[in-house]
Amino acid sequence: MDTHFSQPLPFSGDVAEIMKTRARGSVPMAYIRTYGCQQNVADGEKMKGILAEMGFQFTETPEDADFILFNTCAVREHAEDRVFGNVGALKNIKRRYPSVMIAVCGCMTEQEHVAERLKRSFPFVDIVFGTNAIHRLPEMMYTAAADSKRVFLRGEQSGVIEGLPVRRDKTSHGWVTVMTGCDNFCSYCIVPYVRGREKSRKPEDIVREFQELVDAGYKEITLLGQNVNSYGKGLSESINFAELLRRLDSIDGDYRIRFMTSHPKDASEELFTVMAESRHIPHCIHLPFQSGNDRVLKEMNRKYDREKYLSLIRFARSVMPDISFTSDVIIGFPGETYEEFRDTLSLIEEVEFTNLFTFIYSPRVGTKAAEMPDPVSHEEKTKWFAELLRVQEEIASRRGQSMIGRKERVLVENREEKSGLLAGRTAGGLIVLFPGEDCQIGQYAWTEITEARGLQLKGLPVSE
Ligand code: SAH
Ligand code: SF4
Ligand code: F3S
Repeated sequence: MDTHFSQPLPFSGDVAEIMKTRARGSVPMAYIRTYGCQQNVADGEKMKGILAEMGFQFTETPEDADFILFNTCAVREHAEDRVFGNVGALKNIKRRYPSVMIAVCGCMTEQEHVAERLKRSFPFVDIVFGTNAIHRLPEMMYTAAADSKRVFLRGEQSGVIEGLPVRRDKTSHGWVTVMTGCDNFCSYCIVPYVRGREKSRKPEDIVREFQELVDAGYKEITLLGQNVNSYGKGLSESINFAELLRRLDSIDGDYRIRFMTSHPKDASEELFTVMAESRHIPHCIHLPFQSGNDRVLKEMNRKYDREKYLSLIRFARSVMPDISFTSDVIIGFPGETYEEFRDTLSLIEEVEFTNLFTFIYSPRVGTKAAEMPDPVSHEEKTKWFAELLRVQEEIASRRGQSMIGRKERVLVENREEKSGLLAGRTAGGLIVLFPGEDCQIGQYAWTEITEARGLQLKGLPVSE
């Protein structure tokens, strides 16, 4: 069931009053730290919207905050360890300023053992809530403040929530969630357990938010979902992701549409055809393959094989000869042999990805793969990892060299500290460093690539 909120949210007025009296300064301050993927970043922007509506301003320093929120990620063990370390460090702040309210939310908290550990070992954490409870933030803060109770709220199965306020971090790049959750249950992955089942937003709600961003001058709008290509499941209107893209692309304006993540089992020829015919979608796609070996793919429950993946790549190239691909890869899945890993290497060489996000397998409690025998040592996996990076670096270096002399229109993102140069992103997703003025940040600029070190591109400004 969909829920549409109109502002103010329930309890937000009460919390605003209470927090005004608890604040150490003249205005209540909030510190939000987000880990993990863009989905979490988008959730963080919604929670900022809710807090802003309650009169909060934001600080980058936890010591200055009256409300501290950690928005966590559970995808790999390393991510979780960091969160526990950083949440632990908040104990001192709470000791110094007992009125500070501390909350932990996001994917980690949806796991029973994590919630239990927070309850037992982190008594200074006031609120723990899961990924589907964002809209109840004012209510939870009210209970924690007015009733002086610790609040634990997980496992909410809300439908699609519309109408929450959003405070966007950037004025040129915006996120639009098209679907949440995941039904795929890849055997290594915790996401379906912590994000719940797939839910698609209605196309008219997506179009409305998208149009607002275009009207506000956003230049790059990224459509988000764990598996955007299965968009449309469960909606009363019959619509798929390719059709949604077609509708959005028909909106006039000077902007780029990106989207992530695409699961190869659901990526269709129609999707690539829409991309080829579009006005706003750059010819690049993030298409995680995870492994190049059929036995490992089957054990991973990915529901495609190497040939299906490669045939998608061939089709995409036939309709967009200039398309570039990025991908995610897992090394050292339980039971993977060196020979099987070499199939991953050969796939990388065959496709020539522009960029790869490479991960060593990390067991996640409650997933199927965590129960599988995993005889290869971490040390051995680290060696494979290094081998893969060497192969990818060579590909990146070749790709970088082939860019020299090309004219590229980039969207300027920021000024890079180290070089003092502007950093702009090409349609294909690469960063070009070039000299320019601060007023160009958030705008498009034309550059000519003059230098490449790996995929580190440098350029000079040129006219169109
Ligand atoms: N929905 C996206 C991926 C989300 S998680 C998709 O299916 O493409 C982002 C990436 O983290 C995954 O693509 C995978 O490469 C990696 N990942 C997920 N679980 C992992 C685990 N247990 N160990 C190592 N890497 C993992
Ligand atoms: Fe995880 Fe697979 Fe779902 Fe991606 S598609 S979020 S890897 S279960
Ligand atoms: Fe992490 Fe949750 Fe995203 S586990 S990768 S923040 S969906």
